[in-house]
Amino acid sequence: MTAYITLDQIDQAADAIRARSSYSPRIGLILGSGLNSLADSVQKADIIPYGDLPNWPVSTVEGHAGRLVIGELEGQVVFVMQGRIHFYEGYGMSAITLPVRVMNRLGLEILFVTNAAGGVNSDFVPGDVMLITDNLNLMGMTGANPLMGPNIDELGPRFPDMSQAYDRELMGIARQVASKENIQLREGVYCGLSGPSFEGPADLRFLRMIGADAVGMSTVPEVIVARHGGMRVLGFSGISNKANLDGSTVTTHEEVIEAGKVISPKMEKIIRGVLRSL
Ligand code: HPA
Repeated sequence: MTAYITLDQIDQAADAIRARSSYSPRIGLILGSGLNSLADSVQKADIIPYGDLPNWPVSTVEGHAGRLVIGELEGQVVFVMQGRIHFYEGYGMSAITLPVRVMNRLGLEILFVTNAAGGVNSDFVPGDVMLITDNLNLMGMTGANPLMGPNIDELGPRFPDMSQAYDRELMGIARQVASKENIQLREGVYCGLSGPSFEGPADLRFLRMIGADAVGMSTVPEVIVARHGGMRVLGFSGISNKANLDGSTVTTHEEVIEAGKVISPKMEKIIRGVLRSL
């Protein structure tokens, strides 16, 4: 694949999906580390392993299943990525966001993103769910923006606005659902870093200073591409561990997967509730 994705490459993947599924999904879901189980509840599902799709990156991380699940959930036709691809796996920004470009070409209007994240805000505890109200694009600020390269005018503008990356109306619905379900919903700013090393104490003190509430290794590139294409976005972070600002604790991937078991049921209830009300 070339360094920058082309419309032809996006359309090859979109056509391959159309050939395998007759659904016209409206809503996309990208499920993060340890948060994949919602895909198993999709009814009358067409399942497509990522490896069957041209130009589609394949996830290599434990906790990421690596398949598309297209079908019905809470009365909506959904397009679920059971497992996402991360920048740290070695793919380019353009490749990791190809799935969102494809969603765009397939006519999806709304994207739900979920991720596992470290809690930088000292009020947060492992197991919390955080509504993402905005993000810090540290990957993009250091030169890795998924929209670099020739702009694909058919998808969106050269200089897309990011003033309301996360949709206010959808956030409002999520708050209502969480309150009705008696789920404490935290809110805050998600900071996306490339990983795969976890942050050190100095990194984390810096992130707290610049206004991050949660930190992770994904999501921001996907949200930028979704907004470029005019999709409305709703995002949640599952807080899997407390950020280790003084170096006294160790963060592990096992911990992230374990916390997913507590977070998943809460996040699922909120996502299902929002889907029902759309
Ligand atoms: N840092 C970065 N990414 C993460 C973390 C973390 O502490 N926890 C889960 N994903």
